[in-house]
Amino acid sequence: MADYITIEHSPALSGRVVVAGAKNSVLKLMAASLLIEGVTVLQNVPHIADVEIMGQVLQALGVKVNWTAPHELTLDGHHLASHTAPYELVAQMRASTAVLGPLSGRCGQARVALPGGCNIGSRKIDMHIAGLEALGAQVCIEHGYINVQVPASGLLAAEVLLEFPSVGATENLIMAAVRAQGTTIIKNAAREPEITDLVTFLQEAGVGIEGAGTAELAVTGTTKVNEVCHRVIGDRIEAGTFLVAAAMTRGDIEVEGVDPDHLDIVLRKLEAMGAHIERGPQSIHLHDADKLRAVDIQTLPYPGFPTDMQAQFMAADAIAEGSSLVTENVFENRFMFADELGRMGADISIEGHYALVKGGTSLSGAPVISPDLRGGAALVLAGLVAEGTTTVHDVYHIDRGYEDFCSKLASLGARITRQSEPD
Ligand code: EPZ
Repeated sequence: MADYITIEHSPALSGRVVVAGAKNSVLKLMAASLLIEGVTVLQNVPHIADVEIMGQVLQALGVKVNWTAPHELTLDGHHLASHTAPYELVAQMRASTAVLGPLSGRCGQARVALPGGCNIGSRKIDMHIAGLEALGAQVCIEHGYINVQVPASGLLAAEVLLEFPSVGATENLIMAAVRAQGTTIIKNAAREPEITDLVTFLQEAGVGIEGAGTAELAVTGTTKVNEVCHRVIGDRIEAGTFLVAAAMTRGDIEVEGVDPDHLDIVLRKLEAMGAHIERGPQSIHLHDADKLRAVDIQTLPYPGFPTDMQAQFMAADAIAEGSSLVTENVFENRFMFADELGRMGADISIEGHYALVKGGTSLSGAPVISPDLRGGAALVLAGLVAEGTTTVHDVYHIDRGYEDFCSKLASLGARITRQSEPD
């Protein structure tokens, strides 16, 4: 039985919503727990499908995975039974490749199914492999698996320059370097807040890392990584999604549990659209959004505009006054949801990685299909302002990254429900 979401035209959203822990951090922290020959406790862990899958990957490797409190995971990695991340799990979630670095560091070998591409792009891993080879590992692709073999003498620190500040490659390299001899320098490293959360986690576990949040990281290898208890940062993309929903409905909401600095450029774009925003230490208040003005967006690595907010802003631009240009620079194929938005009446023309959005259109409800996680969320947002009824299908995409998405929106006044399709 597949679930679908029904949305009616909704009033201005109002109230307070607390975001969960960041999906794109917790998955890597779970992988990093493989470096610890002991117990890791993670708090503020979201109940989302991707966390369940990463839990299964760790269990396949021999880690005992337990929910020890509503949003707390305890991972016991004393004894690993395998160094293989099986295809049936990696195929469900690309982020499973985050075990490559820690397994190579801890076990001296790793066997991880090669993740195919996904709806948003080819998702290559050449920089992950080049990074591991720079630390002295032998890497070969065979039978659909990435096979990493570390010499008996272990990984050796090196200076690695990334061609592009890839989030995944930076994380795998940091985690492999933790068990290399000497200090590894990673140049052109990614600077996303989730990377800094991983660095903080490893520092709390006793690892020497310099340069968090900058493009140059220095990771000093160690043979002993201590047990740790860490609170995951708030999910900036979940927070940004609720803020765009509030701006589109000209609402007044308070989003809590996230550092506003992690969303700096997103908040500036919302202000340019006409929203009023107040920033608290761990909260953001959006209110009195005037008639939305369209804004141009170009996605870039952090601190540039996050590609994971592109779809939500395109939905806002579709109803805003004026035309806008949306440029997707990070993934090759992240406009698939635009066709679905077109079914609701949006006027969007795509040319390569450019989308020209003619705003000022009033959307009408329609049955639409989520092509991916963020595209699905953006279609729900469009449903909040569309005339009539919108039904969003393939919501399993949304479940991958949003905890209780419907009930949180409903708590802000959205007219939204979730049903199951009869078999
Ligand atoms: C992470 O993906 C996030 N996923 C993505 O969020 C996010 O969009 C992306 O970073 C960028 O911010 C997780 O953290 C689980 P990249 P990742 O390596 O690590 C190319 C969401 O919606 N590339 O920075 O896969 C790659 O093809 C998801 O929550 C290579 O060419 O992103 C892509 O075009 C979607 N070779 C670009 O770099 C490599 O070896 C950015 O990829 C690695 C990457």
